[in-house]
Amino acid sequence: MMSQKPIKRVNLHPASCKYLKLGHPWITEDTYTKRFPKDDFFLVGVDEKNRQEIALLIHDPDHKNVKARLWSLNPEDWKKDINFRTQLEERLKNAFARRLDSVIPTERENFYLVNGESDFLPGLLILKLKNQLLIQYYALFWKKIEKELLAIVQSLVSVEEIWIQERNFNQAKAIRSVNGSKNAEFILNEYGLNYQIRINEHYDFGIYTDMCAIRKQMVPYLQKSQSMLNLYSYTGAFSLFGLKHGMTKVVSVDLSSKYLGWLDENLALNPEIKKENHTSMCMPSEKALEKLAAEGTLFETIVCDPPSASSDGSSTSSALKSYEKLLPLMLKVLAKNGTLFAFLNTHQISWNKFEEKLKQIIAASEFNNQLIIGKRFKLSDDCLPLKGFHEGDYLKGFLIEFKHKG
Ligand SMILES: C[S@@+](CC[C@H](N)C(=O)[O-])C[C@H]1O[C@@H](n2cnc3c(N)ncnc32)[C@H](O)[C@@H]1O
Repeated sequence: MMSQKPIKRVNLHPASCKYLKLGHPWITEDTYTKRFPKDDFFLVGVDEKNRQEIALLIHDPDHKNVKARLWSLNPEDWKKDINFRTQLEERLKNAFARRLDSVIPTERENFYLVNGESDFLPGLLILKLKNQLLIQYYALFWKKIEKELLAIVQSLVSVEEIWIQERNFNQAKAIRSVNGSKNAEFILNEYGLNYQIRINEHYDFGIYTDMCAIRKQMVPYLQKSQSMLNLYSYTGAFSLFGLKHGMTKVVSVDLSSKYLGWLDENLALNPEIKKENHTSMCMPSEKALEKLAAEGTLFETIVCDPPSASSDGSSTSSALKSYEKLLPLMLKVLAKNGTLFAFLNTHQISWNKFEEKLKQIIAASEFNNQLIIGKRFKLSDDCLPLKGFHEGDYLKGFLIEFKHKG
């Protein structure tokens, strides 16, 4: 698989050296990476100033900005011949066991078996979706060792089909199967609810796996609440979850009639849920909020999970900026005893910056001094990010509540 020719040494930018030593696993493009030899799979990164070999890297020359990713900080791995296949197998085995031997598979058929950098498998995600696997490449070098990767994966789990998707390369679907299936449609269960899954019809397959663990953390709040407004609802995972936890009025808002149709299919897959408790609004979130505020409608729970760049059909704005208009409107329709979950889906904005922005918007609104920004909702369980790797900590949620619950 990997040739055992001597691994070439490459100098790294002083900042890369510093961050690698602190556990950050990426080498992004700079003047140093431009000098990396083109065809080598492994490289040993050298701290020029201290003349110290510091890391074994996997080279990713074709990736747009992450030109190499950390494989090992242990000099034993580059001083003698590296047994890469054994290490890969070991890491995959550990990652699989961490989930399969936990409570997770008893609660949901939708979870990560591998979560990239936090499993020391950089740029590789593997999702288990009922009896299928979806392997997602965020680093392009995985394609070069796909045969070996698949052989190990197939020796560890037995599934009906394995899908491979190259992610985030122009948002093209780029999905293929190992056993020749063209697409897959099946029903998957998450926390007792059924959801329709469609692989290879759209870029995403119908439910966001990274939100599962967060949904579970939200239960104590949802149980206290009778009504929910779910903005950017997609196929309605939060809406169904709210209804399952006893809500008697749930409104889902999405720009896409296709996804709201899919939400209806999901409702139909769960006969215990009363459909008359649910309404959809097919329009931009801002417009729906204006309408609901004008009608004087109040909700005890609001979930707002905008895409990182949100389109209202005519304009595109960043999710953080969209809160400037959305948050004051959401506060108008939030019951005094209610809870608002505000999410942001990008690693480019830190937790502090997101919190600061929410505070500023509240301070400039008619609700100044009336609210508390509280608990954080983070990626956890099967998709816990690696400590110190802020790019992996991309999903951020804050709970917002009135100080004086009326
Ligand atoms: C990241 S997904 C939301 C995921 C969802 N909260 C979940 O966990 O299943 C984003 C959704 O927002 C919708 N969307 C994008 N812009 C919108 C807008 N301005 N108003 C309402 N929905 C919008 C898209 O159609 C898509 O379904």
